[in-house]
Amino acid sequence: MPDVFNPWEVKGDIDYDKLIKGFGVELIKDLPDVFNEEVLFRRKFIFAHRGIGRIINAIHYKKPFVMMTGLMPTGKFHIGHMMVAKQMVFYQNLGAKLYIAVADIEAYNARGQSLAESKKNAIEEYILNYIALGLKSENLDLYFQSNRSNHQHKANAYYRLQNVLARHATFNEFKAVYGEITPGKMLAALLQASDMLHPQLKEFEGPIPVIVPVGIDQDPHIRLARDIASKCKEFKFMELCSSYHYFMPGLSGGKMSSSDSTSFIALTDDPDVAAKKIKKYAFSGGRDTVEEHRKHGGNPDIDVSFQYLRYFEDNDKELKKVHDDYKAGKLLSGELKQILIEKMTKFLEDHQKNIEKAKRVVDRYMEVK
Ligand code: TRP
Repeated sequence: MPDVFNPWEVKGDIDYDKLIKGFGVELIKDLPDVFNEEVLFRRKFIFAHRGIGRIINAIHYKKPFVMMTGLMPTGKFHIGHMMVAKQMVFYQNLGAKLYIAVADIEAYNARGQSLAESKKNAIEEYILNYIALGLKSENLDLYFQSNRSNHQHKANAYYRLQNVLARHATFNEFKAVYGEITPGKMLAALLQASDMLHPQLKEFEGPIPVIVPVGIDQDPHIRLARDIASKCKEFKFMELCSSYHYFMPGLSGGKMSSSDSTSFIALTDDPDVAAKKIKKYAFSGGRDTVEEHRKHGGNPDIDVSFQYLRYFEDNDKELKKVHDDYKAGKLLSGELKQILIEKMTKFLEDHQKNIEKAKRVVDRYMEVK
């Protein structure tokens, strides 16, 4: 187990097998072909789930479903954050209605960040990047936790749900799932439960399958929400579905962390800066000397540049070639880094142009519904 692991803090090595068993999530096995068009599913970056069968059915029978997720509006938007962003775009293109919560209340209570700062950072870092990555303003309900809706009946329903859910959670449950807990964190957990469940209220969509894609650190929130939803008889909820992705490794290994700029590549990093970071910090699975590398080959499984290529190189054949050549010692570490740098440069240049375009349309996404 890592040194610290809870929805607000992850430190140290992560033993995914232990988490899967400990939390009781299921491994993802076969998925229908539509999923495999997305690299995240095809290459198993998304590895576990709760109840995803319900979503697969909805897609198969062309029935409505919701994808709900939230963002913590702190720090810079980096390539690790792209995992959830890409899933938003993927599900939206499949016809899902999207609910996206800006967790400004949670940032206030659990991170000590002001609501004004959260608003600014949510727009500049997160929402512009989502738009640049392909998020559309149709079929989207993007809201701030502190300002749910301009419609009284909707806003009341969302905050009412947070409050009535409280009765069905116990203090021991909180302690067991969250470790250290404060009143603010308790409120944040209940508000997050309302984020995930309120799309099913009659003021919103009514009972409907909802999938919540998250990092596995967020599973305690999901467990709590599923548990209290089943106890709360006033409302009929379909059981929440969720999917879990691996954390993107930081440049020098470990978890990518927005508080350490040498661990991540931000989507607003100048391509030259990104290239320097890769050269200087990206952990290499290569051998100590060229001779040894030629003889024994490198280890792509632990090589961070290769892990990033798995994410940025969509072409399976190209990726396999890099993998095999590196393993065989034909490709050197510096050359592998160069392949990544070229991909990354192209991606960042295109993406940053898209951010400029996004600035012109962002107001449309910000309308309080
Ligand atoms: N707690 C999440 C985070 O730290 C943010 C969040 C708030 C969220 N509400 C949510 C995530 C609902 C998923 C679903 O990033």
